[in-house]
Amino acid sequence: MRPGRSLSRLPFMAVLLLAAVSAWLSLPANGDLADGLLDLTRLTARISVFFFLAAFAASALFRFWPTRASCLLLANRRSVGLAFTLSHFIHLGVLIAYFTVSGEDPGLVRIVGGGLGYLFIGLMALTSNDLSVRRLGKRWTWLHTAGGWYIWLIFLNSYLGRTLEGREPVILFGGITALIVLAAFLKLAAKFSAASNRQKI
Ligand code: HEM
Repeated sequence: MRPGRSLSRLPFMAVLLLAAVSAWLSLPANGDLADGLLDLTRLTARISVFFFLAAFAASALFRFWPTRASCLLLANRRSVGLAFTLSHFIHLGVLIAYFTVSGEDPGLVRIVGGGLGYLFIGLMALTSNDLSVRRLGKRWTWLHTAGGWYIWLIFLNSYLGRTLEGREPVILFGGITALIVLAAFLKLAAKFSAASNRQKI
């Protein structure tokens, strides 16, 4: 049995539970269905960002802090990444419901920019298996590196924008933005540290 294999279903269950609680909190709280759905798009994006960052920074966390927790996260990184996919497709489902109910125009930038993000997420999820890693070789690394950074950029753009606009609660948006920047910093530091170790050998 691979380390942490028994925990591989936990991230999916956590996403479903959090999405159900979010729907329960946001839909009845608003008299208007469109407002409730808009709140739910925000909550589902917040669930997604945490699963995304955990998968994105897993190997860097293990490299700098090789603890039992970081080892478990690394061993279950594929499940955490797929749980992010599930969460973000729930975000998409809620968005479609919101735009249908409200009649608001999503706008070309969101459709093209966000659509490319979903294309990456779908391709990354479909190739998150050993067979694809073997078959695609370097193209697999390219897809998962480019896709990961592109999604990171959308999250940074969304949360940094909200922080700079001073949207309430500022502490929440500032905190999430700080985590997004920290994850990228750790990932780059781990990459440079691995490259300099290889040069020394
Ligand atoms: C990979 C693709 C995408 C990512 C990573 C993403 C991420 C986000 C994030 C981080 C938020 C802010 C949540 C918060 O306030 O805490 C958000 C909200 C939202 N997103 Fe997405 N999104 C994506 C795709 C899309 C697409 C394709 C559309 C529409 C066509 C869209 C429409 C919206 C809307 C309407 C909101 C709520 C805006 C508001 O707060 O007023 N998103 N998304």
